[in-house]
Amino acid sequence: MALVARQIESDRGTTLEGLLRTGEALLSDAGIQNVRHEAVWIMEAALATTRLALQLDGQRAVQPEDRARTMTLFARRAAREPLQYILGTQDFCGLEFAVGPEVLIPRPETERLVEAFARQRLSAPAPIVVDIGTGSGCIAVALARLLPGAVLFATDRSAGALRIARQNAARHGVEGRVTFVAGDLFEPLRGLGLEGQVAGVVSNPPYIPEGELAGLQPEVQSFEPRMALVGGTDGLAIVRRLVAEAPEFLAPSGTLMLEVGQGQAEDVVRIAAAQGNYGPAHILRDAAGIERVVCLQRR
Ligand SMILES: C[S@@+](CC[C@H](N)C(=O)[O-])C[C@H]1O[C@@H](n2cnc3c(N)ncnc32)[C@H](O)[C@@H]1O
Repeated sequence: MALVARQIESDRGTTLEGLLRTGEALLSDAGIQNVRHEAVWIMEAALATTRLALQLDGQRAVQPEDRARTMTLFARRAAREPLQYILGTQDFCGLEFAVGPEVLIPRPETERLVEAFARQRLSAPAPIVVDIGTGSGCIAVALARLLPGAVLFATDRSAGALRIARQNAARHGVEGRVTFVAGDLFEPLRGLGLEGQVAGVVSNPPYIPEGELAGLQPEVQSFEPRMALVGGTDGLAIVRRLVAEAPEFLAPSGTLMLEVGQGQAEDVVRIAAAQGNYGPAHILRDAAGIERVVCLQRR
């Protein structure tokens, strides 16, 4: 029995099947849930192979350099780096986006914001749409694809994020329709003649309260950019500014659509009501039933 165990041990990592098991064990020890799938995805990326090839050819020998490359990726994931940063992509609204540590990984709940925004009837033939805090560019690029007549502007304070957002616009053939500008919220839009002209402002702002960051999973708190996550002590610091600053840019009846954190929607509605420039608010829920999007219309 000991001989068999030693044989298995010595096989580990020398065949495809052995390497897969080694990866699964490393990820499992690190507290990762979906180890089989994740180990396969990592091997597909590291070895430029497919799940089917791994299944059919499990006894094939792995070259030392291939093993080393794969083990490096397993080790990164075992350190709880998000799989999307390791693989370099994330799907969003049916499109594949490049991602890296400069940007928030696009989340499924943000697709709700895009869908709701794209569904409204924007009356202008070439409506101007602004995405504040564009990150990977996922919202702006998805909207450019869904609204072929729209002209988009997208801002972010992070130069690294904008580099990735521009790549993503080019990847999806909308680089000529989205203008990316660096700076604080609406600031970089000044001087472009957009005041009072914008049909819709959309934003998924940082909205996690400062004190809650430490309680999030390691993938988020240790790897995603803090600037993309934290919205001040109560999470609403950036939202307050968006609600206050958007009316200057919105055309009459223009919409401001914001993604918000769990339990924040009613607070955001109150902030907008106190601001005085908006009509009645609508709240939309995400697939999990959480109040996720606040829609405001400029009076
Ligand atoms: C929650 S992430 C959203 C990224 C992307 N829109 C998405 O939905 O995946 C928020 C983004 O806002 C940017 N940001 C934070 N504060 C900002 C500010 N004051 N002005 C402009 N962008 C800001 C961050 O760099 C980050 O890219």
